[in-house]
Amino acid sequence: MSHSVPAANVPKGTVTAVEQYAVGNNGEYFAVGRKCRHLRADLAGGSIDPEGCLVCPWHGAKYDVNTGHMVGGPQGIFAKIPGLGAAFMALTRVLPLKRGTIEKRGTSLYID
Ligand code: FES
Repeated sequence: MSHSVPAANVPKGTVTAVEQYAVGNNGEYFAVGRKCRHLRADLAGGSIDPEGCLVCPWHGAKYDVNTGHMVGGPQGIFAKIPGLGAAFMALTRVLPLKRGTIEKRGTSLYID
């Protein structure tokens, strides 16, 4: 089933929730699953870093939105546990974030 959102709701550098997807704009529109692979924070509340990665709002895990892979592990207290970030990064190579297809038609974005 397809969902839509006005493109104006997703200006560059922002992320928003559209049903089960975190929809963002890092110069290009993207749609990925909302649940962080670490402790399931809602990635729709995340941010976009200068490299265009999606950053988890809880512990700062970074995701490549094209592949769904974690490219930076959880930060803060979790970064002090050796191997933990690496373990989650490895997990997302096997179980990347779900990626939706996103298409701009007129002034709306359609996500499938
Ligand atoms: S829940 Fe996302 S980094 Fe911890």
